[in-house]
Amino acid sequence: MRSNAPVAEATITWISGPVLRAMTHGSFRIHEAALVGRRRLLGEVIRINGNEAVVQVYEDTTGLRPGDPLTGTGSQLSVRLGPGLLGNIYDGLLRPLAGMGPYVRPGINQSRGDRTFPFIPLAKPGDHLLPGAAFGAIHRTDARPQHCLVPPGLEGEVVRIADAGHYSEKLAIGSLRDEAGDTHPISMSHHWPVRRPRPVSSRIPVEGPLFTGQRVLDSIFPIACGGRAAMPGGFGTGKTVLQETLAKWCDADVIIYVGCGERGNEMAGVLHEFPSLEDPRTGRPLMERTVIIANTSNMPVSAREASIYTAVTVGEYFRDQGMRVALMADSTSRWAEALRDISGRLGELPSEAGYPAYLSSRQADFYERAAHVRTLCRHIGSLSIIGAVSPPSADFSEPVTTHTKRYVRSFWALDAGRAQARFYPAIDPLQSYSEDIDALSEFWNQNGNPQWPEQRRRFLSLLEDQDRLERMARIVGKDSLPQRQQHILLCADLVNEAFLRQSAFSPVDRFCTPARQIAMMKLIIYFIEQSEKAIAQKVRVEDISALPVMRRLRRMGEEIGEDDLDKFDELRLELDQECTELTKRAAQNVG
Ligand SMILES: Nc1ncnc2c1ncn2[C@@H]1O[C@H](COP(=O)(O)OP(=O)(O)O)[C@@H](O)[C@H]1O
Ligand SMILES: [Mg+2]
Repeated sequence: MRSNAPVAEATITWISGPVLRAMTHGSFRIHEAALVGRRRLLGEVIRINGNEAVVQVYEDTTGLRPGDPLTGTGSQLSVRLGPGLLGNIYDGLLRPLAGMGPYVRPGINQSRGDRTFPFIPLAKPGDHLLPGAAFGAIHRTDARPQHCLVPPGLEGEVVRIADAGHYSEKLAIGSLRDEAGDTHPISMSHHWPVRRPRPVSSRIPVEGPLFTGQRVLDSIFPIACGGRAAMPGGFGTGKTVLQETLAKWCDADVIIYVGCGERGNEMAGVLHEFPSLEDPRTGRPLMERTVIIANTSNMPVSAREASIYTAVTVGEYFRDQGMRVALMADSTSRWAEALRDISGRLGELPSEAGYPAYLSSRQADFYERAAHVRTLCRHIGSLSIIGAVSPPSADFSEPVTTHTKRYVRSFWALDAGRAQARFYPAIDPLQSYSEDIDALSEFWNQNGNPQWPEQRRRFLSLLEDQDRLERMARIVGKDSLPQRQQHILLCADLVNEAFLRQSAFSPVDRFCTPARQIAMMKLIIYFIEQSEKAIAQKVRVEDISALPVMRRLRRMGEEIGEDDLDKFDELRLELDQECTELTKRAAQNVG
């Protein structure tokens, strides 16, 4: 944060792309922001060895030369957090980008302009405010309601506070007197260093899911609200579509979307698309509760390195207002490559696949900031993190994927085979997992399905058996498998087709409420049990699979919408009738 220490100077001795070394005169601190060269480019001290500082620069360093000066700022690399964030697109250091054409120019003096925001005071002179307390509310017409917070380090008595009105977010609109008698101005925004987690009163155990409306996630591999998930997958397996689907549908109050483009045009797609997306629940623009942080290919890799910490900091800021925040990062592999690039330029000893040895701890610094918390002023807030990983040649044993696995609790492995078969979401049920099943079973219990953990286990064991049997069938031929095994294949196929498959683009099926997920799950379990009984009475599996009701069962997600859940009961009756008929005929044939 700000300090009154005299600023230190240094002289640049060596430059390589976005990183440089400088001989220091005076003392710099690690993560201190620095102004580089005569154009005063924004940089950050990332190492200090004696009299030498290593600095990464967040702008194009063309034209910079050894001998050029570098000045410390006395404060850590920080971003301004305030009511203007929602609805906008920023670079990795939270400098505004105007839609497609980034207008970030070198130099530190960028502002978000002189926009004003409608402020309503929530405190009055004489009130004692704790760190993180909300002293005002902001009701923008073009964004969800927000609060103005006392910065985490400050506490005191309100001396002055502005009347309701429109103010710039930088303007001091009030002041607090601390215990020592010093007065501190407060404004609608404040600075926070991106690499330092914002403090909370306490972390609390996860309770419910971050509900996504995607069956394969909510019902099979759920993520907790305040949880951490990763989706690794090769090119074209549906990571970006899934991230966008989650951004649209998950039950978060605020979405932070950080895009590290795989290729320039891909990021451009997101930047184009997001501003036109509609919030399906309210019909309002999704951007009203979204912040996008983008790294286009023409930006320095250092900005990409910083971007995920910036994004997490912004997420924590909304969490501290008592909101449910979901952060999507697409793709963290491009972020790791930025880390590798910078490390390589510094001549650091490379570890696995050329990544620096500290790759893993940096990933931990990111994922560990996901949390379900009691905020400083005792509200409940959460930040959930969902990172996409794009392993080269879809090899999940590469370092970024393996380290990510250590820090996430939900792992959604996207499978190229499924994607090629246009089976979406292409989540491979055998490689994916969730470690929060016990904590989240209460959610399903409260929604009327105490049997959820068993049903889920049953689905998964069918899918495991299917994998084994299909390999066997490839050798001996499917028809020579025993009836019981053919039955397993039939049921597993139904789980896949009717339940796991869900098109992000289907108006009926792109979102599935808890009630519909339960109805579908129960109906499939009912099918498994009824068909088992029929087979015990000598009905043949091929006859079951030829029943007219099978087609309707396989397509139930598409055909039965949220408004006609009783159609699931009709389908159950149909199934009963057709099974009874088959069983009767089988008995006659035997007799
Ligand atoms: N859930 C989905 N439903 C329907 N189609 C999908 C889905 N996910 C991906 N696709 C298709 O696959 C294509 C590639 O997906 P994308 O998310 O861009 O892959 P990735 O980001 O992993 O490279 C999309 O353009 C779309 O046609
Ligand atoms: Mg993508």
